[in-house]
Amino acid sequence: MKPVEVKADVYWVGAVDWNIRDFHGYSTYKGTTYNAYLLKDEKIVLFDTVKKGFLSDLLHRIRNLGIEPEDIDYLVVNHVEPDHSGSLPEVIERIRPEKIFCSPMGEKAIQAHYHPGEAWPLTVVKSGETVSLGQRSITFLETRMLHWPDSMFSYIPEEKLLISSDAFGHHWATSERFDDQVDTAELMAHCAKYYANILLLYSPLVQKLLQKVAEMGLEIDTIAPDHGVIWRQDPGRILAAYDRWSRQETTNKAVVVYDTMWHSTEAMAKAVADGLVDGGMSVQLMSLKSCHRSDVITELLEASVLAVGSPTLNNGMLPTIADFLCYLKGLKPKNKVAAAFGSYGWSGEAVKQMTQALKDMKLEVLEGVRHQYVPDHEALAACRRLGQELAAQAGG
Ligand code: FEO
Repeated sequence: MKPVEVKADVYWVGAVDWNIRDFHGYSTYKGTTYNAYLLKDEKIVLFDTVKKGFLSDLLHRIRNLGIEPEDIDYLVVNHVEPDHSGSLPEVIERIRPEKIFCSPMGEKAIQAHYHPGEAWPLTVVKSGETVSLGQRSITFLETRMLHWPDSMFSYIPEEKLLISSDAFGHHWATSERFDDQVDTAELMAHCAKYYANILLLYSPLVQKLLQKVAEMGLEIDTIAPDHGVIWRQDPGRILAAYDRWSRQETTNKAVVVYDTMWHSTEAMAKAVADGLVDGGMSVQLMSLKSCHRSDVITELLEASVLAVGSPTLNNGMLPTIADFLCYLKGLKPKNKVAAAFGSYGWSGEAVKQMTQALKDMKLEVLEGVRHQYVPDHEALAACRRLGQELAAQAGG
């Protein structure tokens, strides 16, 4: 793949990872990209690098521009997570840059990851600092905890270009590089998954950042993230989506997530789902035997109801459900009505434990339903009523 011109003298020189299927516990069924950008001015700048193992992709694309690595003057490290900095030591060895720009927290993260001491020409920049490149300039904007302490944006005002690190990105390996070249519905689904699994817990900070960018009056017509396609046709679409997602606005959608041993809890899950449909809700029924936790979280992003089902095993809930609830708690979901349900044999602690876990997340929790062994018509009717109550409480 050739380098791709993003703007005059600004090129995408990143790598496409077609085969990755697990990104630290996030399922990437369609791979991802590690985007890096090269800007040619009186100074030549490389923004971010690629994951370890993809260095030759990066160097090949740079050389296709007629530029040798040692021609590059400046390196910008917007984010130190290894999917963007894994090849940093080898890149620095080849480029021998005059300066490496990073945020104050970026310097600490670089030292903690690669231990260069004084050997690398790290140049710390703070929010609002500008560096001239000749005809163009870079203004840096720290975006702490979006999603690492070191994260920052690089804004090129002369090109109305925002290089946004992980923000506004998505895991999707494509041969296309721009939003107008891909299917919009699929693009937004990948973006929702990224937001739900990576950024949801930082939603209050996303709101502050969007307000800050609006106050700064930055003119932006292109957003170039570090993963996925570049927003050149409709950057407003992803900004509006981030505004909506970070407010944790919900729709009349419900997610019923469960696991089951002998299909009793599964039968209860279906009955709860029927009750939610009775109440006018759109329902996703998701077995953790079939669905990855990161896909369940994606469906939950805009849902107003969560029902969780598990039988009791060894005086507790099934490990798959414990895993899911632990993951969910970390993401700090809001604005959801929730309840638990499940079958049991003799002790039956799972529903109580799941209910407490949902309360610990400060969700609005209704009393759950549990049933000994195989649910009969009455038990399924109780589950259906639970679904109806959840829908009514959510205003569905
Ligand atoms: Fe894509 Fe936070 O690294």
